[in-house]
Amino acid sequence: MADTNNISEEITRVKQRFGIIGDAPALIEAMARAVRVAPIDLSVLVTGESGAGKEVFPKIIHQYGARKHKKYIAVNCGAIPEGTIDSELFGHEKGSFTGAIATRKGYFEEADGGTLFLDEVAELPLTTQARLLRVLESGEFIKVGSSTVQKTDVRIVAATNVNLLEAVRKGKFREDLYYRLSTVTIEVPNLHDRGEGDIHLLARKFASDFSRKYMTEPITFSADAVRTMALYRWPGNVRQLKNVVEQLALFHAGEEIDRPMIIESLPIDHSGLSTPVHTRHNAHDYESERQMLWQMVLSLKADIRELQTQLGERNNHRESNWEEVSPVTTLMKYSDADLLGVKSDSNPNSTPLAKAEKQAIEAALARNNGNKRKTAEELNISVRTLYRKLQEYDIQ
Ligand SMILES: Nc1ncnc2c1ncn2[C@@H]1O[C@H](COP(=O)(O)OP(=O)(O)O)[C@@H](O)[C@H]1O
Ligand SMILES: [Mg+2]
Repeated sequence: MADTNNISEEITRVKQRFGIIGDAPALIEAMARAVRVAPIDLSVLVTGESGAGKEVFPKIIHQYGARKHKKYIAVNCGAIPEGTIDSELFGHEKGSFTGAIATRKGYFEEADGGTLFLDEVAELPLTTQARLLRVLESGEFIKVGSSTVQKTDVRIVAATNVNLLEAVRKGKFREDLYYRLSTVTIEVPNLHDRGEGDIHLLARKFASDFSRKYMTEPITFSADAVRTMALYRWPGNVRQLKNVVEQLALFHAGEEIDRPMIIESLPIDHSGLSTPVHTRHNAHDYESERQMLWQMVLSLKADIRELQTQLGERNNHRESNWEEVSPVTTLMKYSDADLLGVKSDSNPNSTPLAKAEKQAIEAALARNNGNKRKTAEELNISVRTLYRKLQEYDIQ
């Protein structure tokens, strides 16, 4: 076994190769375990909250193991409907059910010799769990609608954000399968527990990524902002931090982010701030999905704005025509608050996004001594849109 020095050099290489940011001992330990267990052909269970960064670990295990030249297949068990999951995993025979027009290989057959990553493994139906146990114990499986036993040699890495022991107690997860899967476990620490240093490193990394993506000046963080981020619970972990930094990068390009800006960009319910909750739950999943949708829409709008600017530069005289005929103008006509599904009668100015936008407009107006044309230019919006926003946010 490698000595301590070699291990720490190896960890540095793993971080570079897989783009992992952070120095928290619990995170380093997780990486070290992945590297150590990789050459030993055992099943591995990766646990950790949603957004904590579990998905990179099966990749490390595959790459550092003897199977690295064979297939690596990742399956999100939570995303496959219950009715088709057996057929997806184990394949089916032609005619075994309506729609089975041809024989199909399942992932266990496809990944033969390689690694299969079963993400959200707790979502597997009990019947599928029984099939999974069998293939883990004997390498044997049977296609749906077939009577022939087939063999496969697949290494399983599973991941979950639920407490599997609790699922076992509730009868939702087979106990024998739990023990089979959890011979080796890797615990990915939640973001809050990694501490201020890691949170700051990650925030800076994302700030620089997004400034490159949106071609804007990077944001920086005041000491107070960093402390605030360290206090927050981050129920959506690294994924949530990434989303928050993206919002900030969009609305405060080039600025130093302070404590109020951080608080504004956190979900409306600030109860996570400085509350060290240690129970694992899924309540935030909806929130983080919703935030991801926001980001998609917002970056789409940013792209369109960019295109409009480019088109405007190339064909100045046709800009207004283009605006009239383009279907995307429908999207651009809506304010961000409308797009986020905030009804106009429920005070749209109270969403964090609306507040951030209002602040950005006020700051830009001040910088341009109230000149609306220059302000619109700086914000990359049309003067018309600026007027509408001034009215909407009641800015004098
Ligand atoms: N230590 C880290 N350094 C850099 N990015 C990270 C780190 N941990 C997680 N991420 C990023 O956070 C996001 C969520 O990670 P993911 O592995 O999908 O989480 P989950 O645990 O829910 O599977 C991804 O975009 C991932 O690249
Ligand atoms: Mg995941």
